Amino acid sequence: MSRFSALTALLLSLPLLAIAQSPLYGQCGGNGWTGPKTCVSGATCTVINDWYWQCLPGNGPTSSSPTSTPTTTTTTGGPQPTVPAAGNPYTGYEIYLSPYYAAEAQAAAAQISDATQKAKALKVAQIPTFTWFDVIAKTSTLGDYLAEASALGKSSGKKYLVQIVVYDLPDRDCAALASNGEFSIANNGLNNYKGYIDQLVAQIKKYPDVRVVAVIEPDSLANLVTNLNVSKCANAQTAYKAGVTYALQQLNSVGVYMYLDAGHAGWLGWPANLNPAAQLFSQLYRDAGSPQYVRGLATNVANYNALSASSPDPVTQGNPNYDELHYINALAPALQSGGFPAHFIVDQGRSGVQNIRQQWGDWCNVKGAGFGQRPTLSTGSSLIDAIVWIKPGGECDGTTNTSSPRYDSHCGLSDATPNAPEAGQWFQAYFETLVRNASPPL
Ligand code: BGC
Repeated sequence: MSRFSALTALLLSLPLLAIAQSPLYGQCGGNGWTGPKTCVSGATCTVINDWYWQCLPGNGPTSSSPTSTPTTTTTTGGPQPTVPAAGNPYTGYEIYLSPYYAAEAQAAAAQISDATQKAKALKVAQIPTFTWFDVIAKTSTLGDYLAEASALGKSSGKKYLVQIVVYDLPDRDCAALASNGEFSIANNGLNNYKGYIDQLVAQIKKYPDVRVVAVIEPDSLANLVTNLNVSKCANAQTAYKAGVTYALQQLNSVGVYMYLDAGHAGWLGWPANLNPAAQLFSQLYRDAGSPQYVRGLATNVANYNALSASSPDPVTQGNPNYDELHYINALAPALQSGGFPAHFIVDQGRSGVQNIRQQWGDWCNVKGAGFGQRPTLSTGSSLIDAIVWIKPGGECDGTTNTSSPRYDSHCGLSDATPNAPEAGQWFQAYFETLVRNASPPL
């Protein structure tokens, strides 16, 4: 072979080499998988389930051909408790501070020149806020958080709890555009979602000493209650139910305390929606085998409603359930009669200022909002386990860029903050508004 042709052969082989191996956390096998079946160096192809084999860190026996058998992990059993402790899962636990959000808040504070506002912004970094796993690529960081929480627990003698949001269903955000996700039902999305759940489970089971509380799939089931007239939601119904059922069962197997997302007072809290909502939650729960670690529902996630409004916001007119407490009190009996555990957590992270919306359904970076009541177990209601911060204040709800595929017209309304980046991206101006308007003040 001439030097020229040898070089050509080498160059030609490079792209082949590049696609012949899956990256760390990439897929490397499973039913219907036609991509690479070996992993990059330092990763081992591991059977997560029949449909999803994944390159996980480690140097175990690597699957070198489609017929070789990779190492097997199971997603059930293990050292986790199988019977949940009775009562409120927050009781007796320290809440782990998400380093992800703390870093966002600290970086934001560094950009604020006013010393008073800067000091207030820095306080936000100390307030426990849920960490969202909104793409599969982020799941690898969960192990780091759990390891740190475990170490903190060992060194302090206290017990730690990590708060996460499970948010990656295929055809996500079916009635809106701003938070459309990475998986599509048409393109193996349900199996990919199962792989995402398995990835979370694989990490959680390594840290049985750390308690995990999860909010399951914001907006998904609420969309199935009220938005089946939207074809994307109707089309997603089966996959949403199958995905949520899988999440409940698998997360249950490793002792994760779960709250399913239940929209908010201005959505499922309308009297006509209460019973259909309760029926859906109860049915799904029973069909999943009544997983013992399902504790209840999360409400007001990423919304702006008061827990208990001093007077109804005019936009709530016509709904007797004009705040989260009224909604919860109205929904609980229907849940209980359906056999669903009626316990709640309520997001108050951005509910500090009321009467700021032109329509109750406005949800995108609403102008004039402020950080709300701090997380607490003193909720004033035996139905409510905790007031929490679920939406990380300062992360955007949706872009105002009209040429983005994820542009949603709600983000262009006159009560939505202009110049907004993509959902989930940091929105400095909005964070500064939340800090300034915080109530109680920071
Ligand atoms: C976004 C997610 C983000 C979450 C929390 C959602 O609206 O779509 O990407 O993680 O908000 O900020």
